[in-house]
Amino acid sequence: MLTATCKAAPNIAVVKYWGKRDEQLILPVNDSISGTLSTDELSAKTSITADPTFTEDKMWLNGTEVTIWDNDRLKNCIEYLKKIAQEKLADKSILNYKLHICSENDFPTAAGLASSAAGYACFVYTLATLYGLENEELTGIARLGSGSACRSIYGGFVQWKSGELADGSDSIAVQIAPASHWPEMHVLILVVSDERKKVGSTVGMRLATETSELLNYRRNHCVPKHVEEITRAILNRDFPTFGEITMRESNQFHAICLDTYPPMIYMNDQSHCVSHFIHKYNEKAGEVKAAYTFDAGANACVYLLESEVAKFVSYLNAYFPNNIATNDEYIRGIPVQVNSLNESEIQSFGVVAPLAKNAFKYIIHTKVGEGPQRLDDSESLLTSDGNPKNLKS
Ligand code: PMV
Repeated sequence: MLTATCKAAPNIAVVKYWGKRDEQLILPVNDSISGTLSTDELSAKTSITADPTFTEDKMWLNGTEVTIWDNDRLKNCIEYLKKIAQEKLADKSILNYKLHICSENDFPTAAGLASSAAGYACFVYTLATLYGLENEELTGIARLGSGSACRSIYGGFVQWKSGELADGSDSIAVQIAPASHWPEMHVLILVVSDERKKVGSTVGMRLATETSELLNYRRNHCVPKHVEEITRAILNRDFPTFGEITMRESNQFHAICLDTYPPMIYMNDQSHCVSHFIHKYNEKAGEVKAAYTFDAGANACVYLLESEVAKFVSYLNAYFPNNIATNDEYIRGIPVQVNSLNESEIQSFGVVAPLAKNAFKYIIHTKVGEGPQRLDDSESLLTSDGNPKNLKS
């Protein structure tokens, strides 16, 4: 019996991927860049066991059995990895063994984070680890599961190169810098209370590619410039430039959504209040100290340096007061020392009344992290006979 257990985290794009040039192979119309989050606060965990006595491939997702072979994306990932294993492995007997796969996410679906990115990155990394292929090029395989998953194969700051070839072989992710290059880079996820169902990314991207007149302009003129500038900002640890491009990119992505016909609206009133608040905060600071970014949902992700977190959250609490959740429930993840603002701080901020009450369900405080990791077998989600430890009744 051979087994491997790994975890991987979601990533938050600062140059957005939106639009595919090939839907089957999941090839994007433009390059994108993201920070991979730390697995300490949010992660997907996968255990895979291969054994000659197993009679069929089986998979459990968050405690419920699912059918692997109905899912083309999962099937593609398994087949591609097995193809590489066929070429690389001296002893190929393991490839004949059936697999038991068990996967769990430890982050709330309401966080609106691309759980599929962490999930597919983790799945591909775990199967590669089981076959001893963890040092091979895996990003192109994770991409077949979910586009943005390819960026979660590495930690730190990662660029997904769109590539030009029709077969997608040059559409891979590369690391710009590991998390240790800029360890002060923290992230706050402001989980807004609104839970309306949004148009999924596959449908949204298809419509945008077919109908948005601005999308081609963005791809040809804006993204190349943003990629070059933000890469330089990351390498120089230049937060104001990093933050400005992050916010401009988010705004442009939502402009493309609005330019789609019929339009797609992902941000809501709360999201716009957050954006307004952050611009005000930066104006008061005299430079960009915090940067919002919104994906295909209303939640805000805020990039900021560790030294700014306590002050930022203190101001955020003053303008978005919460009297529903207790403090422990409200700010999750890395602890934050929150202070109450005094009258003169409130006066000098220029916004006197709170912008919205109970706008967020909770806040997750995390940072950019090191990427997927193998865990000890004692942390496996599968028992020694290959059955899931946690099953939903
Ligand atoms: O990989 P998908 O299909 O979940 O698309 C992700 C799209 C955005 O999150 C909006 C942007 C991005 O680059 O992550």
